[in-house]
Amino acid sequence: MYVPNRVVTNDDLARIMDTSDEWIQQRTGIRERRWIEPGQQPADLAEAATRQALEAAGLEPRDVDLILLGTLSSQADFPGTSFFLQHQLGLEDTPCMDVRAQCSGFLYMLQLADALIRAGTHTRVLVVGCEVHSTGLDVSTEGRDVAVIFGDGSGAVVLEACDDDDAGILEVRIHSQGEHAKRLCVAAPGSGTSPKRLTHEILDQKLHFPHMEGRFVFKHAVTRMPEVLLETLGAVSLKVEDVDLFLFHQANLRINEFVAGKLEIPEDKLFNNIGRYGNCSAASIPMLLHESQQQGLLEPGKLVSMTAFGAGFSWASAIVRW
Ligand code: UT7
Repeated sequence: MYVPNRVVTNDDLARIMDTSDEWIQQRTGIRERRWIEPGQQPADLAEAATRQALEAAGLEPRDVDLILLGTLSSQADFPGTSFFLQHQLGLEDTPCMDVRAQCSGFLYMLQLADALIRAGTHTRVLVVGCEVHSTGLDVSTEGRDVAVIFGDGSGAVVLEACDDDDAGILEVRIHSQGEHAKRLCVAAPGSGTSPKRLTHEILDQKLHFPHMEGRFVFKHAVTRMPEVLLETLGAVSLKVEDVDLFLFHQANLRINEFVAGKLEIPEDKLFNNIGRYGNCSAASIPMLLHESQQQGLLEPGKLVSMTAFGAGFSWASAIVRW
């Protein structure tokens, strides 16, 4: 994983908008987040995470034959961030694509990469989650509900086939519900605004900032996450008690505590890092993987359940034997 060096605390935010460390910690569990330094680009974050993942796997960029990058904060309107990353890795024609499934993006990509490897289409897939939210936030008091929760960061994994049927990705389940697309979205710039994607009126209406119906999203997250987690475990005849480690998307610590309570997951089996990084959308789960591995929670043989919910709405869960 890679996060920018610049730490933005809740008190830093309270100096530019009407909020407080107490409110943010109580409602979300977030103490600080990272924001890029001026000049840093999303692909820079993705590159740093990728190089670490490759080094840990003893691989070079050219050993990868597909790059998938999940983001909702792309470096440009087009092409996707993955293309900038591919170039920065010194690759010439390795195929790459961005996957737009917001906070569930990493798990969507796991399913896709798993299927492509099983089908024999690709042998080694780089999967990166990368977000730069900080440049797209309304940091006035009007945007405080959203601005305080998001952070910048990136995480990467390399996937390849293995012979052991009991190891690796055992199951991934993904879901979407476009009915609620507008309840958490950034409407502009997008081709849905006419006659132009970006006008002074659009800026005045703040359509280029995220709009979120927070409570509605919260309620759906705490319903869908346990649902898809159980669906995924059930598909491979496993139970909650069988799982060694639960990694949940880092949108709000309260959501994760609620879901853990509902499923009777003991506290020591749930690993969170939202307090230090906020919500890094598609990067949150690979960042959790990195830190839980560093802390010795991902020994070989451990069963890890990962679950996410986000804009779209989209939700997903994966069960992996380490
Ligand atoms: O990652 C994608 C998925 N996203 C999520 O899962 C996020 C889900 N939603 C949430 O996590 C929560 O809804 C939030 C953390 C975003 C907001 O918490 P909430 O408890 O739902 O607050 P609220 O929006 O209902 O607002 C409650 C009060 C309001 O004031 P009044 O009307 O009661 O006077 C807000 O204006 O808190 C106020 N408020 C704030 N106050 C201080 C909202 N944001 C802030 C803030 N600082 N940053």
